[in-house]
Amino acid sequence: MSTWYIESTTAKSSRIILQRGILGELNREEWAPAGTPVVVIADPTVLSKHPDLETRLAQWTGPDPIYQLDISESTKNLTTVENLYQEFGTRHVRRDTVVVAVGGGVLTDTVGYAAATYLRGIKWIAIPTTLLGQVDAAIGGKVAVNVAWGKNLVGAFHLPQAVIIDPYMLHTLPIRQWRAGVGEVMKSALIDGQWLWERLNHSVPALGSEEWDSLVEATAGIKVAIVNNDLEETASRMYLNFGHTVAHGLETYFGYGRITHGEAVAMGTRVALALSEDVLGLDGTVRQAMEHWMAEWELPLTVSQANWGAVWEAMTQDKKSRAHGLQWVLLKKVGQPVIYRDLPQSQVQEAMERILRT
Ligand SMILES: NC(=O)c1ccc[n+]([C@@H]2O[C@H](COP(=O)([O-])OP(=O)(O)OC[C@H]3O[C@@H](n4cnc5c(N)ncnc54)[C@H](O)[C@@H]3O)[C@@H](O)[C@H]2O)c1
Ligand SMILES: [Zn+2]
Repeated sequence: MSTWYIESTTAKSSRIILQRGILGELNREEWAPAGTPVVVIADPTVLSKHPDLETRLAQWTGPDPIYQLDISESTKNLTTVENLYQEFGTRHVRRDTVVVAVGGGVLTDTVGYAAATYLRGIKWIAIPTTLLGQVDAAIGGKVAVNVAWGKNLVGAFHLPQAVIIDPYMLHTLPIRQWRAGVGEVMKSALIDGQWLWERLNHSVPALGSEEWDSLVEATAGIKVAIVNNDLEETASRMYLNFGHTVAHGLETYFGYGRITHGEAVAMGTRVALALSEDVLGLDGTVRQAMEHWMAEWELPLTVSQANWGAVWEAMTQDKKSRAHGLQWVLLKKVGQPVIYRDLPQSQVQEAMERILRT
């Protein structure tokens, strides 16, 4: 079991607790004192696979049922947020109500954003149920929804009062969703360079095995530490974007859904490592280690038929990167990320082609 806190000067600290089986012994009083109204918003797929959890959470909400929110990346938007506001209105949500969000990163981002804005901010608790949610999305208070012209462009910083992580939940997660989360695990191993890096070099646990508990714990711990150093992402929190510059380009180019975030991050990380070799002299064995993990987890190493110029265009389409140049996170050594600007288009395209072409 691990407990961490994220401290903030403007909000109460956020408690992150990780323990296998913790959802089996949830005690409402510990999370929402008697008399405090609770609204539970949960992914119906998760409830159907975990009926015991549904029964337990139903006891938290009083007379109102759990609100089942069927949501995906394409409905992670303001229309869904408005539906949530209406539900909050119907349920007479007050300033002291606690909203509990149970699901993957799409659900916790959206419910967290609704909680951040309704009544100028109400308390919320995140119960992440995907690998990506447990190691990344639910931790650190960034909440957002998509608009037609981009992902996560409408959002806020609104720390959940608690994040309850139960790795047991992951046993029902489809393999593709496991792969969607491992990109962040590999990224964290590389930028942190400590236990997780050593662990993966020692042996690569099969996706879905219980051995993953300690990897989830290590990756979540790395995120907590980085966020605590730089809550509002003015400096070192950007290290968490390692591999993400190319990843976002690939996701936009191929279209969301055709390539998972984890696949895109894994490939983006390979390109970032190759650029780190070119620019900062990073040892090539680091990329070999990562490629070994990817092969073990059956993640694709290459993409077919990409127009690299168009991927570059997709990477630079937002106004910020147009105005200031793309910002890169590169590695000097394992555990030593640096921010790097102004890599020439030709160098990046050459690296993408060399590393990612089938
Ligand atoms: N806020 C942040 O800091 C942050 C960081 C990274 C990613 N994100 C966001 O996270 C989102 C992606 O989240 P995701 O990868 O968790 O995907 P997701 O939320 O879409 O969930 C994936 C699928 O898994 C199913 N599912 C969830 N838990 C399950 C379980 N225990 N068993 C079986 N099925 C289960 C869901 O029904 C869904 O179909 C993106 O929108 C991304 O922008 C946010
Ligand atoms: Zn990511």
